[in-house]
Amino acid sequence: MPAGGWGTRFLPTTKAIPKEMLPLADKPMIQHVVEEAVASGIKQIIIVTSSGKSAIEDYFERNVELESMLQQKGEIELLEEVRRIAALANIRFVRQAEPRGLGHAILATRELVGDEPFAVFLPDDIFDAEPPLMKQMLEVYRQHQGSVIALRRVAKEDTRRYGMVKPQQVSERVYRILDMVEKPAPEEAPSDLAILGRYILTPEIFAALSVTPPGTGGEIQLTDGLALLLKQQAIYGYAFDGTYYDAGKPLGLLKASVSLGIRHPGIGADFREYLKKFFEESGG
Ligand code: G1P
Repeated sequence: MPAGGWGTRFLPTTKAIPKEMLPLADKPMIQHVVEEAVASGIKQIIIVTSSGKSAIEDYFERNVELESMLQQKGEIELLEEVRRIAALANIRFVRQAEPRGLGHAILATRELVGDEPFAVFLPDDIFDAEPPLMKQMLEVYRQHQGSVIALRRVAKEDTRRYGMVKPQQVSERVYRILDMVEKPAPEEAPSDLAILGRYILTPEIFAALSVTPPGTGGEIQLTDGLALLLKQQAIYGYAFDGTYYDAGKPLGLLKASVSLGIRHPGIGADFREYLKKFFEESGG
């Protein structure tokens, strides 16, 4: 999980707080993503951080002082919740000296990942799916034994926000990727299928990334590394048609909060009631 970026779309908040720690309904955005990984059967997680991101490390580590305070006060439910977070998965941290792009963040995990396929979760892409999107993608990986990336159709004017692929359909939702390009202008996009923030990658991506020159924005782009890998092995795309939120920007986070909030087992009913009244009274 790369979490080393500046979070520029969430400035000024991200001047002091990592965007991955912003609350989505009742817990930090990154916890939702860690839970998606765990629900998909992934138990070893590497989070790539950079300076100014130590709140993420603190969050997933045990805090013995806090635990003993809660114990003394008899706050047993809270105590269990706080302990549960630290026990969610086996989480390791890698620090990037400077954020130099998604490809660079992935490359920083090379030694820890080793010679095995692995998954990438971009923490600000939030998917509302059952089974979880990564679980669906693992099924495609099992069938095709090649890298799998999440895809979704986007409007023509949005191509500059995403990696865009040239697809060849294999089955209803699965495509073989023929080419891909990072954040093209609409007239240069090879199709309307965009890359979203879930990937299953073969370890050969590391060698490809190590020779990938800086691309869009002067950063080492994962999309460019994948385009190199394409010359050597097949890469598949899985077109996801469920709900997706770009929670890395204020409007996306608000939308995701409403959607998860109204279904939350503890506060959902009250929140729904509040929204109903709010719109009735404001005439909206
Ligand atoms: C990254 C990837 C891009 C992908 C996007 C999905 O871009 O580089 O290919 O389409 O995530 O959210 P970023 O959002 O980091 O600019």
